[in-house]
Amino acid sequence: MRSAGRREPASPRRVSAASPEGTRRLAARLGRLARPGDVIALVGELGAGKTTFVTGLAEGLGVPRETRVQSPTFTLVNVHQGRLPLYHIDLYRIAEATELDELGLHEYLGGAGLCAVEWFDRFPEVAPAGCLEVGFELDGERGRRLTITPHGAVAAQRAREWLDERRRPRQPAEAHRQTKGTTGARRAR
Ligand SMILES: Nc1ncnc2c1ncn2[C@@H]1O[C@H](COP(=O)(O)OP(=O)(O)OP(=O)(O)O)[C@@H](O)[C@H]1O
Ligand SMILES: [Mg+2]
Repeated sequence: MRSAGRREPASPRRVSAASPEGTRRLAARLGRLARPGDVIALVGELGAGKTTFVTGLAEGLGVPRETRVQSPTFTLVNVHQGRLPLYHIDLYRIAEATELDELGLHEYLGGAGLCAVEWFDRFPEVAPAGCLEVGFELDGERGRRLTITPHGAVAAQRAREWLDERRRPRQPAEAHRQTKGTTGARRAR
């Protein structure tokens, strides 16, 4: 997806998720880092795992479990309240760009929450200059390959925080907590 033609995207990064739970865990980490105004464009065929990813974002944002994330295919937008509002938008059934105004897409994109937009690639012209694109490809029945492409400096920074943290060696304080076991168990997700 192009970023409104204003900026070249940073190089894509690739990660794998071996199961739906793996996809949710990966997304939950991003949900914990998200800041107001972040936009995530979810791209991939039907059943690729976009909504599953949003469920993980919701977990990471602390959206209560009872307000479960479901595909907004019929409602187009679902708002969930967590540490930040989560605007879960699905453009699959939008036929024309003019309908996006009725949907209030621009208000959500400029809002103070985290926007997660499925099928954003159907309307690349309305994609904001800054967004984090996550593409999904099937890898067997339960595996998915995710391609993460940041558009703009803010998204590039968020991608680094999200993906590079995983490779950082454990800090001594964390290692100590894990040895003691108590807080370590709560961290183990
Ligand atoms: N590694 C995986 N990550 C995500 N989903 C997976 C994975 N493996 C299997 N699945 C299954 O694939 C399906 C993905 O459905 P989901 O609703 O998330 O897709 P979607 O991309 O939102 O589809 P749609 O375009 O119809 O909205 C679910 O049934 C999920 O359990
Ligand atoms: Mg979906």
